[in-house]
Amino acid sequence: MIDSKQRPLRDLRLSVTDRCNFRCVYCMPKEVYGAKFRFLPKHELLTFDEIERIVSIFASLGVKKIRLTGGEPLLRQNLEHLVAQLAKIPGITDLAMTTNGYFLTRDKAIKLKQAGLNRITVSLDALDDETFGRTNDVGVPVKRVLDAIDAAHAAGLSPIKINMVVKRGMTDSAIIPMARHFRFTGHILRFIEYMDVGNTNGWRLTDVVTAEEILHQLSTHWDLEPIAPHHPGEVARRFRFLDGGGEFGIISSVSQPFCHTCGRIRLSPEGRLYTCLFGHDGYDVRALLRDPKLTDQIVAEALTGLWNRRHDQYSVDRTTATPSHSKVEMSHIGG
Ligand code: GTP
Ligand code: 5AD
Ligand code: SF4
Ligand code: SF4
Repeated sequence: MIDSKQRPLRDLRLSVTDRCNFRCVYCMPKEVYGAKFRFLPKHELLTFDEIERIVSIFASLGVKKIRLTGGEPLLRQNLEHLVAQLAKIPGITDLAMTTNGYFLTRDKAIKLKQAGLNRITVSLDALDDETFGRTNDVGVPVKRVLDAIDAAHAAGLSPIKINMVVKRGMTDSAIIPMARHFRFTGHILRFIEYMDVGNTNGWRLTDVVTAEEILHQLSTHWDLEPIAPHHPGEVARRFRFLDGGGEFGIISSVSQPFCHTCGRIRLSPEGRLYTCLFGHDGYDVRALLRDPKLTDQIVAEALTGLWNRRHDQYSVDRTTATPSHSKVEMSHIGG
């Protein structure tokens, strides 16, 4: 399956809930996601069986990689049941999850691994409670997330990646402590440029600490060299510490967009498909799934048409155009 810019579809990201117990300032600012915010009611969510069906159809169209995300995916009850359903679909060779780690106990990590989850990515923006508490904005201490990383490691959910959003004046002072902490652990730290996803985080270009600045900071402490990507279309640029400290990544979607190789499609919790992280209102696939007249074959044809028409490249256009449309929130469709 190729889109209008010759990009193959490779990767499906499933957001299983729009809820989260954190209020990260760059993602779910408290002023917007307060007591009055209306999250999706349960009957609006795709069921596990519906998700299994759409993933099977995508697998028949060539998707091999699935990432579970949210909101916070572990807020969806019995997520390991969905993992078990997805892990047995022929053609799915990589099943990963992005989580804030809060609910990832040892027991949960083992259940997820046994159900067939291959690996996880944990979000963590700093190593001191003051900075981290200010970014998650609900006072979650760093140790809670470090314990989750240990639990995932013990359960064999490796390699573990750690996502750190770098925002000027907020987490940039944590770049070196985070690198120092995760060197020689086997975990892969990724520095993410702060992005203008959604409409609520008050993004300003001046708050972005660019990949170049991040690399410069790191290179004043350690000798580094770039390494080749694992596969085409990889989001993070990879680097390694020359002293054997392991690798890290930088996700530079603002200063060096990677739209030209983007083969990602995203499914929202209520069954809307977005062909770009910066999409507007998505494509209602739940209506197709809930129409008893429509066979898998017909749904597959609709998905093929959707991908063939795709021409998204928001991050490439960002510098020349200000969007006229409102954008979907990252907490709704995941990273
Ligand atoms: P693996 O290669 O499977 O390990 O995962 P990944 O590199 O896709 O990483 P992950 O899913 O953890 O994504 C990391 C972060 O990169 C996300 O949280 C987003 O902030 C950003 N990101 C991922 N995909 C896109 C994308 O398509 N566009 C943009 N602009 N940013 C993205
Ligand atoms: N810019 C960059 N990354 C973001 N994330 C959430 N909001 C933003 C943003 N505005 C990342 C989080 C998490 C993943 C789901 O998305 O760090 O790792
Ligand atoms: Fe929740 Fe992740 Fe968004 Fe933070 S970045 S508010 S943990 S969904
Ligand atoms: Fe893909 Fe859109 Fe991100 Fe570009 S901005 S990499 S097209 S999701």
